[in-house]
Amino acid sequence: MYCMLINWGILGLGKVAEKFVADLLLSKDAKLAAVASRDKTNAEAFGKKFHALYYYDSYDALVQNPEIDVVYIATPHSFHFEHTMLCLKNGKSVLCEKPMGMNFGEVNAMITEATKRKLFLMEAMWTRFIPATEKLILLLQEKIIGEISFIRADFGFRSTAAPESRVFNKALGGGALLDIGIYPLYLSLITLGVPSEIKAVARKTNQGVDSFSAQLLSYADRTKAMLESTTEANTPVEATIYGSKGTIRLFSRFHHCERIAIQLHEKSEEIIHIPYVGNGYFHEIEEVNHCLLANAIESTKMPHQMSLNLIKLMDEIRKQTDLHYPADDRVL
Ligand SMILES: NC(=O)c1ccc[n+]([C@@H]2O[C@H](COP(=O)([O-])OP(=O)(O)OC[C@H]3O[C@@H](n4cnc5c(N)ncnc54)[C@H](OP(=O)(O)O)[C@@H]3O)[C@@H](O)[C@H]2O)c1
Repeated sequence: MYCMLINWGILGLGKVAEKFVADLLLSKDAKLAAVASRDKTNAEAFGKKFHALYYYDSYDALVQNPEIDVVYIATPHSFHFEHTMLCLKNGKSVLCEKPMGMNFGEVNAMITEATKRKLFLMEAMWTRFIPATEKLILLLQEKIIGEISFIRADFGFRSTAAPESRVFNKALGGGALLDIGIYPLYLSLITLGVPSEIKAVARKTNQGVDSFSAQLLSYADRTKAMLESTTEANTPVEATIYGSKGTIRLFSRFHHCERIAIQLHEKSEEIIHIPYVGNGYFHEIEEVNHCLLANAIESTKMPHQMSLNLIKLMDEIRKQTDLHYPADDRVL
């Protein structure tokens, strides 16, 4: 790569792609080079709205453009594997929306392919790069609340989406766990690490995807995490970390929060305001630019191992709650 600007391509022009691209335009290291949709009208409207240099009505055409450095995959979960592989096999680095794949086998194969080709690959876990999350990590390193004893986090919204939408459609990877339950799980991984034991329960829709999922995670040092996700009701979407000297609360929505409360025992509560830029995606975009400019194939903040840990947890929860997807039957 000889140019100073990173040329981005966007694959799948739905809801999150629109918010993401608004933030991409805020980055001085990035250029929106190309967008691709399955639909010509959508590609043209999106491309013109955000001043993309090229717009395509096929994903294949985008990955064949030699000017593109990195592709942001914003298609439904069940296509992340196929579309990431399409990009990697055409020499493109990838930022892939969460969950990176439907199961461990897919995520592992994607990482193997990227590593073999010396291409950058990262799961778009934007929470990691939100300034309030960075602050949380520092506070925990400083042991401001002492030793952690347990955490609690929830992510629930009452979805009115149609049964065939990606929220509920099994063929598109629908269900609460993979879509939003991934955020409480990710928080548990960055605060407590990999659990030694998982107990999971779920309730399913008529389409056979989970509309409620709860997990109790236990750790070797006896700490616990209590996590919930649901598409049945609006829940607080907060996270609290309980320690021997007090608590840290991440205000709603905790996965991209802008306010943290620190409550030490017998002290008054301190509230810290930490705004993010744009819609919050700006920070992960800057991380990708930074990694590509440094010729890194992996982010140290959101490394491949974290994506493997996340999907392993979700595979185990799915096993315990008997939640099966067509992708699980695919031979890779
Ligand atoms: N990080 C975040 O904050 C965040 C937020 C929301 C979603 N996400 C993730 O982003 C991904 C997309 O979510 P979204 O809410 O943007 O979904 P969406 O609005 O349904 O958009 C998905 C896009 O994927 C493309 N697509 C390709 N094949 C498809 C198919 N068979 N059915 C439907 N769409 C297909 C379509 O784009 P074209 O028609 O243009 O090809 C569609 O507009 C999901 O994996 C989700 O987990 C992340």
